[in-house]
Amino acid sequence: MIPFLDLKAQYHSIKPEIDAAVFGILESSQFVLGEEVAAFERNFATYCGATQAIAVNSGTSALHLALLAAGVGPGDEVITIPFTFVATVSAIGYTGAKAVFVDIDPVSFTMDPAQLEAAITPRTKAILPVHLYGQMADMDAILAIANRHGIPVIEDACQAHGAEYNGRRAGSLGVSGCFSFYPGKNLGAYGEGGIVVTSNDEHARKIRMLRDWGQEKRYHHVMKGFNYRMDGMQGAILRVKLRYLEQWTESRRLHARHYDSLLAGADVQIPVEVAGRRHVYHIYAVRTMDRANLERLLHAEGVQTGLHYPIPVHLQEAHRDLGYHRGDFPQSEAAADQVLSLPIFPEMTPTQVEQVGLAVRQDVSVH
Ligand SMILES: Cc1ncc(COP(=O)(O)O)c(C=O)c1O
Repeated sequence: MIPFLDLKAQYHSIKPEIDAAVFGILESSQFVLGEEVAAFERNFATYCGATQAIAVNSGTSALHLALLAAGVGPGDEVITIPFTFVATVSAIGYTGAKAVFVDIDPVSFTMDPAQLEAAITPRTKAILPVHLYGQMADMDAILAIANRHGIPVIEDACQAHGAEYNGRRAGSLGVSGCFSFYPGKNLGAYGEGGIVVTSNDEHARKIRMLRDWGQEKRYHHVMKGFNYRMDGMQGAILRVKLRYLEQWTESRRLHARHYDSLLAGADVQIPVEVAGRRHVYHIYAVRTMDRANLERLLHAEGVQTGLHYPIPVHLQEAHRDLGYHRGDFPQSEAAADQVLSLPIFPEMTPTQVEQVGLAVRQDVSVH
């Protein structure tokens, strides 16, 4: 059995530090926000190359507050892609704004900048590219268009901790960047968590208030806010884990290179790391015209796989009100039909990578 990821193996590799961090919170009783969360915020902002970070209770909350801080509200439009996790689009909906989609570039699975300009209207209040699978969208091209129109760009970096674009870290290129610490993410909490990073003091100030009931100081509510605070325990755990993130990312990248070489020449498309971008391989998705068959064969051989994502958001029942139909975003629809995510996690052994790679190689030639 080769699992899709192994959170227990990671815990055991750093158990003494994690246990000490958890017991530290039990002793300090700073269960919500507190010093550990504040220290983690400082460390994560530095890691991303931003001046501020505001920790919240999920990546979805991070997106919601980043959009609100950019002034997004009812009647506005926010441009994003339909080939993403549904949370990107739901967060836009929470503000009262409408999601407007542009298709993906099929090589990187990220926003196709060539289609962006045509989607801009006088109502466009923000652009929300998604750094899907751990590779950043084409930020230079997106920012050039956004700047020409005076529209802020918020990065959905929920899958892209430590990803880079021409040497700059995810989250530091837009006005703000949003991350998820869902347990399976490259930097995962032991529960829910998220964060917004920004170098814009005004956005940071608003987001800090909005996550804690809009309070400027205790019981002085200057904005209608939310209970989106991060738990102290998650902050303490994440602060420990952040110290290992680079090492874990390098392991993921090594596994990806190993897969690349095992799958070279096989009847399957491997992920492309675009020049100038550092892919952090949250997901290693191959593309095949016969996905159902490959999925079935791999499962029979004890290899767990994932589907990210089988239905693009514009075809989801819940988002029918956006008014899109099949055929509107052909690249997203084709990707949704063809991608299959292979196991990838830092603790994977080279033998496991080889077993999966060879199984894929054999299965795609057996029809
Ligand atoms: C691209 C993307 N956006 C948003 C989210 C939402 O994050 P969370 O699950 O922490 O709310 C996720 C993660 O699940 C994601 O992958």
